[in-house]
Amino acid sequence: MTIGEALKNAYQKARKDQNKKLEQELLLAFVLDCDRSFLLINHQQELSKEYLERYQELVKKLFSGWPLAYLTGEREFYGRPFLVSPATLIPRPESEMIVDIVKEEAKKYQQAVLVDVGTGSGCLIISLASELGKDFKYYGLDISEKALKVAKDNAKINRVKVNFKNSNLLSGLPKQSGQLFIIANLPYLTKEQVVREVSIKKEPRSALISGKDGFKDYRNLFEQLADRKDLRDFYLIIEIDPSQAKLAKIEANKYLPNKKVELIKDLRGKHRFAIIK
Ligand SMILES: C[S@@+](CC[C@H](N)C(=O)[O-])C[C@H]1O[C@@H](n2cnc3c(N)ncnc32)[C@H](O)[C@@H]1O
Repeated sequence: MTIGEALKNAYQKARKDQNKKLEQELLLAFVLDCDRSFLLINHQQELSKEYLERYQELVKKLFSGWPLAYLTGEREFYGRPFLVSPATLIPRPESEMIVDIVKEEAKKYQQAVLVDVGTGSGCLIISLASELGKDFKYYGLDISEKALKVAKDNAKINRVKVNFKNSNLLSGLPKQSGQLFIIANLPYLTKEQVVREVSIKKEPRSALISGKDGFKDYRNLFEQLADRKDLRDFYLIIEIDPSQAKLAKIEANKYLPNKKVELIKDLRGKHRFAIIK
């Protein structure tokens, strides 16, 4: 069977779903270790039995709900490559705005410590370390040992130094002094939201769900920050569900009354981030 025929067969499954067709092309490019454009130019090239079987197996998985990123084991974030596994959340394009915002703010300082709580694949802190350079110190914290292993590999691939630690929120962060930037894209969904959303069913629940109202982890984070006397000069940015905008303000004001809360919208005009400083 040729490349063109293999794709034609796969397209039939996708029917009118253009995104699935694109994903099928990316999968074949992944199997053949080539660019997507190679497939289009070389559509008459014969596929070996081994490649064809591997491709068909992956297409089957794609249609049973596996996200493309888990099948290829990688996803681009802020223009850089990141490994992902079913132990990590797949980095989302909307989270790239956190890097933009923190980068601009941190640039005003000559020295600072940046801490990513719930680092997952490490996409946020590694992007910031790549953008801001060696004058700053970087921590990536996560409660999942498996996610931390992926994050460590990603730091190597992207050639940056980040201190990764197994930690329940900030509990594993050593005592700090000076300016601190805390970035948190913690789980913020409810069980009901996760059940409704088919596209995320293969992602780890521990990276998605946070108590009855989806805000348990952020509430605990605020509480830890209120208790840590060494962490006074902090700038905190959290990613939230748009439905939590009001709640984020109320809870931040309750636990951190000396701080100001600002809500930021994402590119779709939805409240997606809260800055607490
Ligand atoms: C929504 S994912 C975000 C991952 C990554 N920051 C990103 O933006 O792609 C949340 C991450 O928080 C971690 N996590 C959940 N509860 C935690 C806790 N109590 N302490 C530290 N990390 C936690 C999960 O293991 C997961 O990696």
